Amino acid sequence: MLNKLIRKNEKSISIPLKKRKENAQQEQLPGHIAIIMDGNGRWANKRALPRIAGHHEGMKTVKKITRFANEVGIKVLTLYAFSTENWKRPKMEVEFLMRLPEEFLGTYLPELIEQNVQVQMMGNIESLPEHTKRAVRKAMDQTAANDGLILNFALNYGSRDEIVQAVSKIALDVQEGNVTLEEISEELLSNHLMTKNLSDPDLLIRTSGEVRLSNFMLWQLAYTEFWFTDTLWPDFDETCLMDAIENYQKRNRRYGGLKEGEGN
Ligand code: IPE
Ligand code: IPE
Ligand code: MG
Repeated sequence: MLNKLIRKNEKSISIPLKKRKENAQQEQLPGHIAIIMDGNGRWANKRALPRIAGHHEGMKTVKKITRFANEVGIKVLTLYAFSTENWKRPKMEVEFLMRLPEEFLGTYLPELIEQNVQVQMMGNIESLPEHTKRAVRKAMDQTAANDGLILNFALNYGSRDEIVQAVSKIALDVQEGNVTLEEISEELLSNHLMTKNLSDPDLLIRTSGEVRLSNFMLWQLAYTEFWFTDTLWPDFDETCLMDAIENYQKRNRRYGGLKEGEGN
């Protein structure tokens, strides 16, 4: 175990990040990376700071990781920013979290535009506060024509809610005679989800040591590769993302079948 740790450190120290990035680019990259950004509160607690200080620090990680993912050549980065269950938190914390998109986009939108990033959002946008909606809509409008990295925020997002909405839309279509029962398929359901214009994630990362999905992309993650790390989101950096990408590139994705040469 210790040897393994030492070897891992040596590897990170001896190969500069730039070189690791170039090496990774020679191989198949995960086209879509989804991240459950967790551990902001614990990061703050460890420093005897209020939880919101952790969220503020976490926002800096979002900038860093977006920039780096774009540089590496990732096509879609989905970030879980607020779940449909996060309304259960204290009012003050929720209010702070609802102000973060404004602050983030207020300072960072020009850079996103310059980097050709397209901002998207999935989740129940209608029930967000007016000021949050305004900030998100502005970012989506101003980056709509960009064709670089898609930065997809999951904001007021819950996967079960998403599936229920999709099913009731399909049921309505059946009732109105626009869709027949035979036409209900995986593809049809996928096309009614909030990710209908996106490929399924290739790699899912969750920070902070929690090993659960917390109602995130339950349908879309069916064949995604998972990477869990103890690192808290505010401490997550380019090197951590590179570790996850390199590990992903060693995986053998079988999708229930066999790879060439595995059969006998
Ligand atoms: C993730 O950090 C951010 C959100 C869920 C909004 P947390 O706030 O969940 O941090 P912990 O899990 O309490 O450390
Ligand atoms: C998941 O984290 C939601 C986001 C990262 C936005 P939580 O911290 O809310 O998840 P649980 O409560 O630990 O499952
Ligand atoms: Mg948490």
